[in-house]
Amino acid sequence: MRMYDLIEKKKHGKRLTRQEIGQMVRGFVEGQIPDYQMSAMLMAIYFRGMDEEETLGLTLEMASSGDTVDLSGIEGIKVDKHSTGGVGDKTTLVIGPLAAALGVKVAKMSGRGLGHTGGTIDKLESIPGLGTAIGRERFFEIVNETGIAVIGQSGNMVPADKKLYALRDVTATVDSIPLIASSIMSKKLAAGSDGIVLDVKTGSGAFMKSLEESVALAKEMVAIGTGAGRRCCAVITDMDVPLGCAIGNSLEVIEAIETLKGHGPEDLAEVCLQLCAHMLYMGGKGDIKACYNMAKEAMADGRGLRTLAAMVKAQGGDDSYILEPERFKKAPFCREVKAGEDGYIAHIDTESCGIASTMLGAGRQKKEDPIDYSAGIRLYKKYGEKVKKGDVIGILYASKEELFDGASKKLLSAYTIDSKAPGDKKLIYARVTKEGVDPIG
Ligand code: URA
Repeated sequence: MRMYDLIEKKKHGKRLTRQEIGQMVRGFVEGQIPDYQMSAMLMAIYFRGMDEEETLGLTLEMASSGDTVDLSGIEGIKVDKHSTGGVGDKTTLVIGPLAAALGVKVAKMSGRGLGHTGGTIDKLESIPGLGTAIGRERFFEIVNETGIAVIGQSGNMVPADKKLYALRDVTATVDSIPLIASSIMSKKLAAGSDGIVLDVKTGSGAFMKSLEESVALAKEMVAIGTGAGRRCCAVITDMDVPLGCAIGNSLEVIEAIETLKGHGPEDLAEVCLQLCAHMLYMGGKGDIKACYNMAKEAMADGRGLRTLAAMVKAQGGDDSYILEPERFKKAPFCREVKAGEDGYIAHIDTESCGIASTMLGAGRQKKEDPIDYSAGIRLYKKYGEKVKKGDVIGILYASKEELFDGASKKLLSAYTIDSKAPGDKKLIYARVTKEGVDPIG
């Protein structure tokens, strides 16, 4: 069928067959289908949607559009984790080593930060010497020896997503559940793990602002994962406010270390324990409750921390930074940001915090921008806390003092202070498996 006919079909809300989807994805990657026709198709999918079978077909065709990773050279059950993104989300640095310490293999490919959200690879590269461009053989060796390695994406993986995402970005078709689900899951399937735990964020700082949309996205992704023969579940967690207190690369690594020592912020520790419990569950280590308790023990007795140190060393990094995090280079300048009135913290806008951190040098606007690893923010007042005018709500860190004025205004604008105490906020909402949705907490 011609691409014109496929667009016509989807425009009228008809199903595309697996063969038609395959022909379309291959034609687009090979350059036979021009951007203007694919843009029309994306808009038709945006309005007409795709059913579960079509979305699975699209995902599988995208996943096999380039290199795929065969992890059979690593012994045991390999479990991956993916977060739909946020600010202050350093969970991979905590739960990867915890899960590995408990016998699940974590062979993970992560990304860099862009815009107001951070990326695990940038955070890891703030550890002196640590390399994330590691060849496949050494990657497998490290996972077999230490249980975990985290590297950047290499080779030509999922070229269909690279091309489609760039087009979605400029055609206002990013926020479509079948398109988001196929984009994320094609990369997860290509990365080769047996099990996948999805951390689907919900709230003002997340892709999906409402719980309903987040559950719908989670269901779609879990259906794809299980439909492709993988073990897969999702946990819906809050991203209405930043997670933990640190935003910025080495600041977040230090907070992850504190969490692995059992002294991390409560919200971060709880999200990590829940996600790790689900990774262990996917790895066949027991029921969720037993897995949660195992994760808690490995946090309390330092096994997770020792596994992180072993991974850092194996990836060429200086592991003394993990055991003595005070060694991380400190930003030469810092500035306190103070509350302008008395009251309660009723909201902290996640995106504004991320932008303020980027303004300090912790993130990049364009792919090629350099990163200042020591720059960022530490929040001292979180959701629901009482403050008095003049109390320090956050401290900014940067290498240039002139960056403070703009960033402190941005951070202050993120805070809403109200005279009344706000209601309790949920941190973890639900678990989504192929069997259905169970509330958590
Ligand atoms: N992350 C992705 O990788 N793809 C999307 O479409 C949205 C978020």
